[in-house]
Parts: sequence; C-alpha cells; structure tokens
Amino acid sequence: MGRNLYILPLSNKFSISIFNNLISYVSKEKATQIKKLYNNMDKKLSLYAQVAVKLIIQKEFGIDINQISIVNDDLGKPYIEGHENIFFNISHTHNVIAIAFSDNRVGVDIEKETENSTGIAKRFFTEKENEYITNVSVDPMKAFLEIWTKKEAFIKYLGLGLRKPLDDFCVVNDFLKDNFLTLQSENCIVSYYDGNNKNGVKIIKLKEKEIEGLNLIY
Ligand SMILES: CC(C)(COP(=O)(O)OP(=O)(O)OC[C@H]1O[C@@H](n2cnc3c(N)ncnc32)[C@H](O)[C@@H]1OP(=O)(O)O)[C@@H](O)C(=O)NCCC(=O)NCCS
Repeated sequence: MGRNLYILPLSNKFSISIFNNLISYVSKEKATQIKKLYNNMDKKLSLYAQVAVKLIIQKEFGIDINQISIVNDDLGKPYIEGHENIFFNISHTHNVIAIAFSDNRVGVDIEKETENSTGIAKRFFTEKENEYITNVSVDPMKAFLEIWTKKEAFIKYLGLGLRKPLDDFCVVNDFLKDNFLTLQSENCIVSYYDGNNKNGVKIIKLKEKEIEGLNLIY
C-alpha cells in the first residue's frame, strides 16, 4: 500500500446512534475501554481511529472489515491479528486523529498547537534538541512540538512506550533527522517515522462523514 499519513479532524457533534453503530465494529475489549472514557470527544477519538484503521485496511488490502481484528502487544502497540505484515500506528490529540501506514513498522504522533505547550518536558530533551528550540528562527512553540512529536513518533515506531529514556536519542543531529516527516495540519504538528527517508509519504485527509458512512472516498 505504500506510505500514507491520514489526518482526520472531528467535530464536537456526538450522535448516540452513530456511536452505537460504529462501536459494533470494534472488539469487545476496546468497546468496554471506549465506553469508560469520560468525555464524548475522547470516546470519538478512540472509536473513530479504530474504525478508520479498519476501513483503510479494507480499502487497501481488500480484507472485509468484519475479519479485521486490532489487538495490542504487551507494550500497547496495536497490530492486526493474523496480518503482522500490515504496519500502522495511531495518534490523537484534542479533536484530530493521525494514522500512519507503511511497508515497514511505523510510528506517528500528533499534538495540538496550544499556548502552553512549551516548556513542560524540555528536561526530557537532549542538549542539542533544546538548543534547536532556542535557536531556530521559527516560533519556539512550533519548534518544541516538532521535537516532541518526532521523539514520540520514534518511540511509537519502536513500540517501547515509556520504556525508552527520552534523552537516549536525539532527533536533530544524528542519523534520525532526515527520516522524520513533520508537518502542520488542522492547527496541529504531526510527525511520521518509519525508518526511511521522509520523502514519498502521501498525506490523505479523511472526513468524519466517511467514517460514519463506513465508506472512504479518497
Ligand atoms: C502510549 C504512548 C505510546 C503514546 O501516548 P500518547 O502520546 O498519550 O497518545 P497518542 O495519541 O500519541 O497515541 C495513542 C495511541 O498509541 C498507540 N499505542 C499505545 N501504546 C503504544 C506503543 N507502545 N507503541 C506504539 N503505539 C502505541 C495506541 O494505538 C493508542 O491509541 P488508542 O489508545 O486509541 O488505541 C507512550 O509513548 C506515552 O505514554 N508517551 C508519553 C511519554 C512522554 O512523556 N513523551 C514525551 C515526548 S518527548
């Protein structure tokens, strides 16, 4: 299928009937987890991401949606049961979902641009990364989120979650730096990493109506 990065913005609308229909397409375990989420947007983010992944696989690989089972490995990284050669990853923030597909393992991270998003985790960054944020001519908030999302995408590519020390690797000055695709979309910064050169990743915008209608038109 190649290397695709899907962006799916969601509205604040919440319809119980649409929710009940879509939730019938996810596993019992995931449905239970989603129902326990406190606010409707969090429910939508998690649910629509699951259904979107299944619809993309149905479209790209010709596997019926009802035969696709998303499970998580011991460290939480999702994969498709019986189809370990399908590589994808999910991220969501505020009201936007990012989904990465690749021919190799892949990680993605998306973060909303907000006023207070700088600062908090600088202590987790390497000296070179902090220098980059301070010296770069772009907005420091954007530079901070660029570093943050690159680090997260790399950790999610590895599948290690919090087990990988964040200052163990540097996303601006070693072999990693040319392999991140980082872009702005829907007032968010998103980074994609699959171990290959950043060129050649296709960006595809999805609409929530496509997910709700179970029909992708891209
Ligand atoms: C769980 C983690 C993988 C990402 O969490 P996050 O940034 O809060 O959330 P995101 O929206 O980007 O990603 C959530 C998705 O990641 C996927 N995921 C979970 N564990 C994963 C793992 N070990 N590897 C890859 N993907 C994973 C899941 O699909 C999850 O979506 P779902 O819950 O709807 O099924 C983990 O890296 C984490 O907790 N990171 C925070 C560490 C930190 O302090 N980072 C600072 C960055 S510099």
